[in-house]
Amino acid sequence: MAPTWKVSCVVGARPNFIKMAPLMAELLRRPTWQAQLIHTGQHYSPEMSDQFFADLQIPRPDVHLGLSGGTPTRQTADILIGLEPVLDSFRPDVLIVVGDVTSTIAGALTAVRLGLKVAHVEAGLRSRDRTMPEEINRIVTDSLSDFLFITEPSGRENLLAEGVPESRIFFVGNVMIDTLLRFRQKAAESTILDQLGLQEKGYAVATLHRPANVDDPKRLPDLIGVLTKIAAHLPVVFPVHPRTQKRIVDLGLSTAGLTLCPPQGYLDFLRLTSAARLVLTDSGGIQEETTILQVPCLTLRENTERPVTIHEGTNHLVGLDPARIYDKAAEVLNSPPPGGAPRVPKHWDGQASRRIIDILEQQLGGRP
Ligand code: UD1
Ligand code: UDP
Repeated sequence: MAPTWKVSCVVGARPNFIKMAPLMAELLRRPTWQAQLIHTGQHYSPEMSDQFFADLQIPRPDVHLGLSGGTPTRQTADILIGLEPVLDSFRPDVLIVVGDVTSTIAGALTAVRLGLKVAHVEAGLRSRDRTMPEEINRIVTDSLSDFLFITEPSGRENLLAEGVPESRIFFVGNVMIDTLLRFRQKAAESTILDQLGLQEKGYAVATLHRPANVDDPKRLPDLIGVLTKIAAHLPVVFPVHPRTQKRIVDLGLSTAGLTLCPPQGYLDFLRLTSAARLVLTDSGGIQEETTILQVPCLTLRENTERPVTIHEGTNHLVGLDPARIYDKAAEVLNSPPPGGAPRVPKHWDGQASRRIIDILEQQLGGRP
C-alpha cells in the first residue's frame, strides 16, 4: 500500500535531534507516512551530532546539507539555498520543524516559500527577550506555521496574544520528555558516574552556552568563578559546549576545581543529571528534564520561556549575579532533596509525538 502522506523533518542542532527522535520513531511505525529526514549540518562535531543519532536510534538522514559553519545569518542563507531543491523535489504534505534554532527558522521559511505546510513542534514559548537569537527564531517560525504544537499552557496565551488563530494551536505535551521517558532506563546503565569518580546525589552538573553568558568577557569569568566556589562544597561536573570551550581558551580562564569534560552523549548526560544533587544551567531543555527528574535546577538567566518548570517543576530562575547564584545553591544544598510524587506538567507523559502525528493525520485528511 502506498503511503498516504509525505513529511520532511528538518534537524540541525543538538536539541533538535532529541526532540525529533520520538517523532521519527512514531512516523516510521505508521505505514501511512513516508518520512524524509534532513540534517542541515548546523552541528557537526561527533559529540554534538552523530552521538545523538546513535544513542537515540535515529535513522541516518536521507539528506545532509553539510553547512560550513559561519554566523547564524550565513547558516540561514546556506540552509535556504540547500533546502529549496530538496523540498521542491520531494514535495511533502507537511514539513516538521522543532524548537528554536537557526535550522528551525530556516527550514520553516524555505517551506513557506515553496507553498508547503509547516508544523512547528514546541511552539508558543516566549522569553520576551529579543536579544536572544532563539526568541526571534520562535516568533518568526510561529508566524509562518500552519500547525502549532505547544508544550505548556503559556504557549496558547502567547500565540493568541500575537493573533494566531486558536484553530492552529494544539496542546500536545513535550517531545523532549517523550525521549527522556523512552530512554531513562537505558541511561541508568551508563557508567559515566564511575568514569568521573562521582557518587549518586553527591555532585552538581553545570552547562553554559547562551551567547549572552559565554560571549561576554566579563560574565563568563563571573559564572565560572561562582561554579568554582560551589565546587568547594561538592564536585561540579561541567560538560563544555564548543562555543564555551572557545571562549575559555580565548580568555585564558582557569577552570581549576571544576570537573570538566567534553559535551556528553544523551544517555551519559541523562545519567549525570538524574543522579545530580543540583543542576546549574542556561539551557532550555535541561530546565524541562530536571522538572521530570525532580532534581533542583538553578537557571542562570534573567528570564525563561518555560514558566511551567518554575510553577510546577524544580526550576529556580536565579539571574546572573554570582552572589545570588551562590546563596541559592547553598540554600538548595542545605534543604532536603525534593521528595514524594513528582509534579508532572500536563501531557508530559511520553505521548506527545503520538498526539502530534494523530493531529496531523486529521488535519491533512485523505489525499485525492
Ligand atoms: C545553537 C542554537 C542554540 C541551542 C544550541 C544547542 C542557534 C541560533 N543557536 O547554539 O539555540 O541552544 O545550539 O547546543 O541556532 N561548534 C562546534 N561544533 C558543533 C557545533 C558548533 O565546534 O558541532 C562551534 C562552532 O565554532 C560554532 C559555535 O560552536 O561556530 C556555535 O555554534 P552554533 O550552532 O552557531 O550555535 P550554538 O552556540 O551551538
Ligand atoms: N545535553 C546532552 N549532553 C550535554 C549537554 C546537554 O545530551 O553535554 C542534552 C540535554 O539533556 C538536553 C539537550 O541536550 O536534552 C539540551 O540542549 P542544549 O542545552 O544544547 O540546548 P537548548 O535546550 O538550550 O536549546
